[in-house]
Amino acid sequence: MADLATLPKDWVVTSGQFTRKGHTEIYPAVDPTKPENSLKGKTVVVTGASRGIGAKSIAPAFAKAGAKAIVLVATNATKLASIEEELKKINPDLETLALGADISSAEQVTKAWSEINARYPKVHVLVNNAGVECSKSDKMMHEQDPDIFFKNFVSDL
Ligand SMILES: NC(=O)c1ccc[n+]([C@@H]2O[C@H](COP(=O)([O-])OP(=O)(O)OC[C@H]3O[C@@H](n4cnc5c(N)ncnc54)[C@H](OP(=O)(O)O)[C@@H]3O)[C@@H](O)[C@H]2O)c1
Repeated sequence: MADLATLPKDWVVTSGQFTRKGHTEIYPAVDPTKPENSLKGKTVVVTGASRGIGAKSIAPAFAKAGAKAIVLVATNATKLASIEEELKKINPDLETLALGADISSAEQVTKAWSEINARYPKVHVLVNNAGVECSKSDKMMHEQDPDIFFKNFVSDL
């Protein structure tokens, strides 16, 4: 097997890339601060919003784009309070709703959705990002914890 340490830093991205160009920085077509990408008046639901890309990238991008409201979902709602604060620093007019729900449970998803609908009858965007990033460890796929793999399978797939 190839020595992974000798591969270029962006190998994981470029080896499976199906577009001509890969981006590592925000470019105009996806820049949330551009007026043409404005989400003024829109309601967005982001699952997996307490840490990782949900908290650090996805929800802040919607806040920058001027969304009216962002609903943040994670297993434990208490972890979401600091994320709400960060988002309001980006967009002081933003409404937020933090909900604790395990999205691998149909019962909890139904309950969360009815709470969302009670406040926001129309949701414009759902980013179903919740899941656990297995590849942060240096283990190969076959060495990963099967329980975590299956948790991802039943949550966001
Ligand atoms: N990071 C990357 O480069 C990358 C690349 C490709 C794909 N992804 C995928 O993107 C997703 C997020 O990755 P990440 O790196 O941001 O992961 P992360 O740092 O592990 O964060 C996962 C988020 O999902 C929540 N979560 C996990 N299971 C949940 C469940 N059953 N119900 C509700 N919330 C749940 C976690 O909060 P609680 O623990 O509080 O529930 C947390 O907010 C994952 O599905 C991952 O496979 C990530």
